[in-house]
Order: sequence, then structure tokens, then C-alpha cells
Amino acid sequence: MNLQDKVSLVTGAALGFKAGGPSIGSAIAFKFASEGAKVVVVDINKEMGQRTTDQIVQNGGDSLFIHTDVAKTTEVKQAIQLTKQTFGKLHCLVNCAASYQRNIFRNVVDIAEEDWNHTLDVNLNGYFRFAKYAIPLILESGGGTIINISSGAAFKVLKNFSVYPVTKAAINALTRTLAIDFAPDIRTNAICPGFVRIANSEGDRSPEELRLWLDGIAKTYPLQRVCSVEEIANVAAFLASDDSSFINGECITVDGGRYVSDYHEF
Ligand SMILES: NC(=O)c1ccc[n+]([C@@H]2O[C@H](COP(=O)([O-])OP(=O)(O)OC[C@H]3O[C@@H](n4cnc5c(N)ncnc54)[C@H](O)[C@@H]3O)[C@@H](O)[C@H]2O)c1
Repeated sequence: MNLQDKVSLVTGAALGFKAGGPSIGSAIAFKFASEGAKVVVVDINKEMGQRTTDQIVQNGGDSLFIHTDVAKTTEVKQAIQLTKQTFGKLHCLVNCAASYQRNIFRNVVDIAEEDWNHTLDVNLNGYFRFAKYAIPLILESGGGTIINISSGAAFKVLKNFSVYPVTKAAINALTRTLAIDFAPDIRTNAICPGFVRIANSEGDRSPEELRLWLDGIAKTYPLQRVCSVEEIANVAAFLASDDSSFINGECITVDGGRYVSDYHEF
């Protein structure tokens, strides 16, 4: 297996909060475990984070859940310490945790300063904090990889959704700076998904409303469907493995060709 005995830490790896539905981080944790990695699951959601770990263990894998708020330096440091105590090493960090509450769907005039700052602190500074405190352990472990889950929003913005793209564009810049500062020991890359179907964004839609919503989004994608969390996890596993051994500093768009497509027809 490609990640045999590699120790990896995935932030934002809890299953979806309602009934344990799909999330990108948990799909990455499951995929890594299926490839033989030991997986540290990090999330602010205790119940669903523990559920991700339990599921890995039930399937014969090795996993530890560490309840952590990525916005708190002491908790981030503690997560790295616990990883070291439990597994001795760390080979791969996947930064994936992000918060997007309804109150950030605003332009710069309407968004509250505290919501802007909170989003920067979780979605961007959380990635910085984990990189800062994980890198020494990755170097001590003989090197490895960092994968930052970014977004297509780093390149194209949505109306009245101001702070989120700012964090994602900065994550791409962070990816490039880590890629050159810590090469050749650590390769750092980002994944920029388009719309990915996850439990947390489905809200309280009825099955029919959900079908109409997803069909509407799918129509804007050349592949005529939306992305699954597993399709992002597959790319993360590739970037964590030696199969991608000469890829460093890339921000890889995984959106079924939406970014390179235009809407009108001749
Ligand atoms: N779903 C999409 O369409 C999509 C598209 C592009 C990029 N992304 C990115 O993918 C990543 C994963 O998101 P997702 O779509 O799976 O959503 P999600 O809501 O299922 O996952 C985000 C996770 O981060 C956790 N989290 C939030 N605040 C935290 C904090 N302070 N400390 C620790 N954990 C915290 C949440 O509990 C949740 O488990 C995010 O970085 C997101 O921006 C998602």
C-alpha cells in the first residue's frame, strides 16, 4: 500500500455533523487509513471526530482522535505533542479544517469585523499554526508532505462571499512558500476543489429540494455532476505518496473542468 506505516494528521476530519455524512477531511482520513497510514483525526467536533476514528479502527486501521480548535495555539501544540507521544513520528499533514457560517456570506461592508477575523483565524491561520508546529516533527521524522485543502474560490469569487476566497488565495501563497522553504525534505501542495457534495452544506433541504439543488449545480460543470469527497481524497493520497515525488508547490484544481470552461455556446 502507498502510505504503509506513514503517520498522517488530518485537520477538519470529522464526519458531517448531522448523521455522520460525508466530509472531505473524513474521506481523506479513511482513504489514508485504507492505504496503510496511521491517522490522527483532528477536529473541533468531538462526537463526529471520534466517529471518524472509531470507523477507521473498526476497519482494522490505526487512528487517534484529538479534539482541537485550530484557532488555539496551545491546542495545536498539544495535538502535535500527542501525535509524537502516540506514534513517535509524523510524515504527512493535511490542513482541511474550515468554518463557513452563514454570517460570512456578506460583502466587505456588511460582514462584521469579528466574523472576518474569526474566518481568517480558523481557515487561514489554522493552516499556518499546524504547519508551524508540525514541520519540526515532520523534519525529525525524516521528511514528508503537507497538503492544504484550498478551493476554486482562490481563483474565482462568488458575489457577497468576501472573506472565504481571501483565505483560500492566501492558502495557495502559503503552499508555495512552504514548498520552497522546506524542500527537499517536505513537499507541499494544495488541492483546489470546485463544489464537493458534503453533509454539512445540505442543510434542511428535503430529498426533492436536494435533488433540484444538486442538479442545478451539476449543470454548470462540464462533467455534468458534482464531485464526491472520495474524488478529493484520491488526489490527497496521491500527493501524500511517492507517486507524486516530483510535485511540489502546486495548487491543483479538482473541479471537473469548470474553471477552464465558459458558459455561453456559439
Ligand atoms: N465542500 C466543498 O464544496 C468545498 C469546496 C472547496 C473547498 N472546500 C474545502 O474543503 C475543506 C473541508 O470542508 P468540507 O467541505 O468537508 O466541510 P465540512 O464542514 O464537512 O468540514 C470542515 C470541518 O472543519 C471543522 N472545523 C471547523 N472549525 C474548526 C476549528 N476551529 N478547529 C478544528 N476544526 C474545525 C468542522 O467541524 C468540520 O468537521 C475546507 O477547507 C473547505 O474550505 C470544500
